[in-house]
Amino acid sequence: MLELTDVHAGYGQTPVLRGVSMTARPGAITALLGRNGMGKTTTIRSIVGLVRASSGSIRYNGVELRSMSIHKRARLGIGFVPESRQVFPSLTVAEHLKVAARRGVNGENAWPIERLVELFPVLARRSSTRGGQLSGGEQQLLVIARALTTNPTLLLLDEPSEGLAPLIVNEIGVMIKRLSQEDNSPSIVLIEQNLQFALSVADHAYVLVKGEIAFSGPGAQLRADTDLQHSLIGLGTA
Ligand SMILES: Nc1ncnc2c1ncn2[C@@H]1O[C@H](COP(=O)(O)OP(=O)(O)OP(=O)(O)O)[C@@H](O)[C@H]1O
Ligand SMILES: [Mg+2]
Repeated sequence: MLELTDVHAGYGQTPVLRGVSMTARPGAITALLGRNGMGKTTTIRSIVGLVRASSGSIRYNGVELRSMSIHKRARLGIGFVPESRQVFPSLTVAEHLKVAARRGVNGENAWPIERLVELFPVLARRSSTRGGQLSGGEQQLLVIARALTTNPTLLLLDEPSEGLAPLIVNEIGVMIKRLSQEDNSPSIVLIEQNLQFALSVADHAYVLVKGEIAFSGPGAQLRADTDLQHSLIGLGTA
């Protein structure tokens, strides 16, 4: 279980997170929502160690992460798929899945390639295709699969829907949901601006407004309340 308590963080003298508290439970999909520039990516960076939290606590399975190196945090089973995806144009799908692979915290290899391609069959079809030739949706599934080869127990996804056509976004949603229902699935934190997409898969939702949590509740509650969505996001269901 991931637990942030009153986390403050920023860049230089500029505060961005102003007391963020949130929890991500095992086996669940937790959405962290908010408009542009509200601090979603900064929250993820503070969890993986790319940004230092100036105060508050970030605990994973009871262990305080705040002053721990990026490397050590990753070794605790924290996997991260950044906004930028970082697909290598000249490596094939199969090569992407080979280079990142490592065993999990307890030495397990829960996600061998055979299992990954069963979960995301398109990766089997595109196995020898180079990263640069893949569609945006295929690239997104590839980077999720690549993160799984590190056997994470927590998977942080930063805006997987970004730049993808609506039909493809739906497919990615189905895949993320399917992943969350697998045996040994990592707990998933899904960062999104796209509420419809995120709320269609999330068990629990948080909304960040200017570095503070303005809503915490069941995904279904926020999904059902478009007025609340408007007031929190200002973009309705967009
Ligand atoms: N490296 C940086 N240096 C200085 N300021 C930054 C840096 N990265 C982000 N910021 C600022 O911090 C604030 C929060 O940014 P953050 O990237 O966390 O937002 P976000 O919610 O992920 O937005 P988006 O939906 O656009 O990705 C913004 O005002 C942004 O301009
Ligand atoms: Mg961001």
